[in-house]
Amino acid sequence: MKEQKRENFGSKLGIIMATAGSALGLGNIYRFPCEAGANGGGAFLIVYLVIALAIGTPLMIAEFVIGRRAKQGPIGAFRLLGRGREGQRRTPWTLVGYLGVVCAFLILAFYTTVAGWTLGYLGKAAANHFSGQDMTQISQQFTDFTNHPWLPIVCQLAFLALTAFVVARGVKQGIERWSKLLMPLLLVIMVILCVKSLTLPGAAEGLRFLFAPDFSKLTPHVIVSALGQSFFSLSIGMGALITYGSYISRSDNLVTTATSVALADTFVAILAGIVIFPAAFSFGIRPEAGASLAFTTLPLVFQQMTGGYFFCLIFFLLLVIATLTSTISLLEVIVTALTEELHLSRTAAAIAGTIGTAVIGVLATLSFRTASPIHISGRSFFDLLDHVTALYLMPIGGLLIVLFVGWRMRRKDMLDELSSGLVSEGSASRASRFLATSIRFIIRYIAPVAILVIFINQLT
Ligand code: TRP
Repeated sequence: MKEQKRENFGSKLGIIMATAGSALGLGNIYRFPCEAGANGGGAFLIVYLVIALAIGTPLMIAEFVIGRRAKQGPIGAFRLLGRGREGQRRTPWTLVGYLGVVCAFLILAFYTTVAGWTLGYLGKAAANHFSGQDMTQISQQFTDFTNHPWLPIVCQLAFLALTAFVVARGVKQGIERWSKLLMPLLLVIMVILCVKSLTLPGAAEGLRFLFAPDFSKLTPHVIVSALGQSFFSLSIGMGALITYGSYISRSDNLVTTATSVALADTFVAILAGIVIFPAAFSFGIRPEAGASLAFTTLPLVFQQMTGGYFFCLIFFLLLVIATLTSTISLLEVIVTALTEELHLSRTAAAIAGTIGTAVIGVLATLSFRTASPIHISGRSFFDLLDHVTALYLMPIGGLLIVLFVGWRMRRKDMLDELSSGLVSEGSASRASRFLATSIRFIIRYIAPVAILVIFINQLT
């Protein structure tokens, strides 16, 4: 076997921050409110929380386990660990790796549409486009922007180019440095926004929408949407974190790392909900407004604040960066596949991946227009990409990943990965063994059954 030298993340905080950088992004600030709003609020939130912690976190751990064991991206990792006997060259598990790469590509395509909007809105914030505008005018701005003949495309391509630039420069300097510095700052701004939003007139109604569950709204579609959203938000179900796991050193513990990231990610999503719903109700924006929800509500909240211009500018700047750390992780999956499978150089792989994404991505952006012909059975191409990845590909990918780690990997290897980095003496060692065994149980039995039941339930 070819022994590759592989760089590791510099520090424990480095991995948590870089994984959090991948997890935190539009999924939390744009997609979570959008999904929660469309799926009835409180009931969705509860299902989301249960799934994110009980299935999402173990799945994140499972991806790390595969990545660190194999020290490769998803395709190579499944090929290496999926082999039954020594000398066997092919294994169908490799297909799970390919599925992940296809999924990354499809997500990145529509994700960069929205990423482009964040860049456009950064420009709008700088040019002070929101001041003195009412709800109707600001929501008109969203429609005008997304229907503009070339602006959203230019923004999308600029965003992709930025992503490619960072990815081509390598994982360590690129991802780690940025995320470590700026993610905590985003959190601070979110908390400030929260306070403002909660003091708007009529805010209580929005809080009730988000936190008081109406279980009559709980349909199989709501549950699978919560599953899809949790996978999307945690960046799991398609192998992105296998690549990250391959950079984690043996002295770090995978369970604590994944749990910290999952908690932080969930916290930010809820925070976004607390910013958006009270404000939306206060301004008279419908919670099921969809894609425009965050982009209409947020500028309106800033407008009500003293120093709103300044906060709005910083917020969109940080949102661009949070989004960038997510697009980096998606492009990273594609680039790792191209460098490891086709032996392209990192730069060539980044360019090839970017061009491919740009083609599909621009179609997604064009399909978002009100009168766009790019609709497939009544759904825009943009929605279709979102729908297919979150409701089908990620649940299927996630299921295969937990099955792989739970049933295909050797028990000893898995337990070893789960407990490495924890204290290995005395009663602490007994506790860490217990932890590893419980997580193995969830990965083997609970997660696969739950994903399968949720997935099949929505099909019927
Ligand atoms: N989790 C990111 C977000 O919430 C999006 C993302 C980045 C992602 N990498 C991923 C989603 C890999 C699925 C898989 O914005």
